[in-house]
Amino acid sequence: MTDPRPILTTRQGHPVYDNQSLRSVGERGPATLENYQFIEKITHFDRERIPERVVHARGTGAHGYFEAYGKIGSEPARNYTRARVLTETGVRTPVFVRFSTVIGGKDSPETARDPRGFAVKLKTVDGNWDLVGNNLKIFFIRDAIKFPDMIHAFKPDPVTNRQEPWRFYDFVSQSPEALHMVTWVKSPWGIPANYREMEGAGVNTYKLVNDQGVAHLVKFHWQPKQGVRNLTSAQAAEIQAHDVGHATKDLYEAIERGDCPEWEFCVQIMSDDEHPELDFDPLDDTKRWPEDRFPLLPVGRMVLDRNPDNVFAETEQSAFGTGVLVDGIDFSDDKMLQGRTLSYSDTQRYRVGPNYLQLPINAPQPAARAHTNQRDGQMAYQVDPAGSNKHVNYEPSSVAGVREAPRPAKEYHQWVEGHLGRYQTTRTSSDYRQAGERYRSFEDWERDDLVANIGGDLKQCPETIQLRMVWHLWHCDEDYGRRVAQTAGIDLERAKALPPLPGRAAPHAALPGTTYTE
Ligand code: HEM
Repeated sequence: MTDPRPILTTRQGHPVYDNQSLRSVGERGPATLENYQFIEKITHFDRERIPERVVHARGTGAHGYFEAYGKIGSEPARNYTRARVLTETGVRTPVFVRFSTVIGGKDSPETARDPRGFAVKLKTVDGNWDLVGNNLKIFFIRDAIKFPDMIHAFKPDPVTNRQEPWRFYDFVSQSPEALHMVTWVKSPWGIPANYREMEGAGVNTYKLVNDQGVAHLVKFHWQPKQGVRNLTSAQAAEIQAHDVGHATKDLYEAIERGDCPEWEFCVQIMSDDEHPELDFDPLDDTKRWPEDRFPLLPVGRMVLDRNPDNVFAETEQSAFGTGVLVDGIDFSDDKMLQGRTLSYSDTQRYRVGPNYLQLPINAPQPAARAHTNQRDGQMAYQVDPAGSNKHVNYEPSSVAGVREAPRPAKEYHQWVEGHLGRYQTTRTSSDYRQAGERYRSFEDWERDDLVANIGGDLKQCPETIQLRMVWHLWHCDEDYGRRVAQTAGIDLERAKALPPLPGRAAPHAALPGTTYTE
C-alpha cells in the first residue's frame, strides 16, 4: 500500500528528502550557507511570534452563530434598527468570539483577578460587526485619554516587574469614577469560574438607527444560559496551583463534547438625549443603566459550537475593533468608544500587519465580500476584486472599477454644536452611589471576599493611598469604608477627616450638566 500522507516540501514546493540533518562537509565538518531548506525552516521559525496584544494578551476563541428573534422585547426590531443582523429571523450569522483576561501576558494564569474580555465578531451579510466588550458591563474610566496611564498602573511595575497594589490604588484613588468597577473586580465577580458561566456586554453606549433615520441610545448585553459562577480568591488559588489555563480547557472541552454554550443577546434602550434627570450621563461607561428603569430586552441568541482548527491562525490573529459596525448600528459620543475606535485598528496594523483584514479570520463573509482599491503593503495576500478591468484601481472611473453604494433612504444626521475644549462630566455623585449600591447588593460571602481582598491589598500600600481609598469607600457606603479600614488596620477617623480630592466635586454633589474648563 502506498503511504497516503503528503510529501514534505519547502515553501517553494521543493521536496525534502532529509528533515533530520543539516548539509555539512563530511560527517563532522562545518555546515554550509547555501542550505536553503535549513535557512527557510529556521528563519521562519525565528519569526513565529508576533507581538502579543498590548492588553488582553491571554485569550481563547470559538466559532458559532447568532440568530435574531426579529423583535426587541415585544416590538418588531425594525422599529429601532435597520441592521438586518438584528431584524431578520431564520438567518444564522457566523460568529467568532475571543474571551480574555486583560493585564497578564499571553501565557498568564486564567485565574487572574481581572475583567474578562468578551469580543464578538459577527460576519453579517452586510459586513462585519464587532462587539468588543467585557463581563462586568462597565469600565474603570470614562475618557479614552486616561487609558494608557491606567494600563501602566495596572501592569507590572517597570522596575520590580510585578503588579504592585500601591500603583493600582494610587491611580484608582485619584480617579474616583473607577470605584464602581473596583467594587466589582475585587469581589468574586473579578474571577469568573470560566468563560462559559459569565455575562458579557458592549459596555460603551452605541446607537440603533431605524430606516426613518431615527436613533436611540443602546447598551448591548450577553446573558449566559449556563448561569453565572464566580470564585473566591482561595478557590482561584487552588485551581491555579495545578492549572494556569483552566478556562481555555473548560471552553474547549465543553464544545468538543457537544455541550455548546449559549448566550441570550439583550439590549437596554434610551431616547437619544442628555437625560438630565439621571445622576449619570448615559454616555459614561463607568455606570450601569438601572435595569428597573431600562429593562434588558431580548434580541437574539448566540451559540458557540466549534473550536478553532489552529489557535495562531484564528485566535491570535483575530482582530476586533469598536469601529466595525454595520448600517443600523452607530457610534454614540461616548468618549471611551470614540478613543477605542482609533486604537484597535491602529494596534492591529502594527500587531498583525497592515493587511490584517485579508486574513480569513478577519475578512467579511462571502456575501459581503470586500471590493476595495486598497493595494499592496506588507504581506498583501490577494488583490481585492474591483471589477473586471485590472488596470482600474481607482474611483471614480468612466471605464470600469468599483462604484459607490446607494445611499440609505433616510440617513441618520446627528446635530452637534458646542465649544471645542476638554471637559469632565459633573454628574459624579453616581461614582459613589453606584459603587455603594453594588456593595449593598452583594451576597454576604461576596461582600466578605471583597472586603478581604481590598483590605489585603491596602496593607501593601503607603499610608496616603490607604487613607484616600478608605475615604472613598466610606463615601460609597459607611460600612464598606469601615470594614476595609478595620481589615487593613487603617485609622477610619483620620481617613474621614481628609478634604475632598483637589479639582473633583464633593462625592455627593449631584449637578447635572457639564462644565467648560478650557
Ligand atoms: C483589546 C485598547 C477600553 C475590551 C484591546 C487592544 C487595545 C485596546 C489596543 C488590543 C487589540 C489587539 O491587539 O487586537 C483600548 C483602549 C481603550 C479600551 C484605548 C479605552 C480608551 C476597553 C474597554 C473594553 C475593552 C472599555 C470593554 C468594553 C477589550 C477587549 C480586547 C481589547 C475584549 C481584546 C479583543 C480580542 O480578544 O482580541 N483594547 N481598550 N477595551 N479591549 Fe480594549
